Amino acid sequence: MTEECLIRKARMNDLRSIYLIEVKSFPNPYPPEYFVTFLTLHPKYFYVAACEDKIIGYVVGAVNKDGSGHILSLAVLPSFRRKHIGLKLMEAIERSFMGEGISKIVLEVSQWNKIALNLYKKLGYKIAGVMPHYYPDGSDAYLMFKELRD
Ligand SMILES: CC(C)(COP(=O)(O)OP(=O)(O)OC[C@H]1O[C@@H](n2cnc3c(N)ncnc32)[C@H](O)[C@@H]1OP(=O)(O)O)[C@@H](O)C(=O)NCCC(=O)NCCS
Repeated sequence: MTEECLIRKARMNDLRSIYLIEVKSFPNPYPPEYFVTFLTLHPKYFYVAACEDKIIGYVVGAVNKDGSGHILSLAVLPSFRRKHIGLKLMEAIERSFMGEGISKIVLEVSQWNKIALNLYKKLGYKIAGVMPHYYPDGSDAYLMFKELRD
């Protein structure tokens, strides 16, 4: 990341840019209303990477009923990938979960998404199991988790 770029909490007027990144990043994007709901309900767990006024990536999470943190979506604009922005977004949301006393994070990732799997493994996430037919195309997801420590 360059000096002009920073990781900060998402705001309502970032949502249009966030949705465009989502559409460019996933074959089955979340509908735009989901992001409004995420930001309204879970503002502590929604970060963007911003370079001056341009939003180039985001991560959004929530807290599960069992008290674990849940990563709901993570994406970086294709032209800004491979600059450790994804890694920094993940570190920001992990700090936020930790600050709220959350000790475990879970996420789902396509078993074919080698890039995201590399990123999560690099951050210390482990595979807990397979969720068969998790995605609309019938493909499976890995359920991954990480125990947080101070
Ligand atoms: C996954 C994604 C968010 C990664 O963002 P990024 O900013 O490009 O990733 P980073 O630069 O922080 O990379 C962190 C690590 O991930 C792995 N990684 C990232 N890009 C990779 C690639 N093209 N090939 C292999 N490994 C890669 C590497 O381990 C990398 O560490 P390194 O650069 O020290 O080797 C981005 O590729 C993306 O938006 N993909 C589409 C959406 C998606 O799949 N989201 C995850 C859903 S679960």
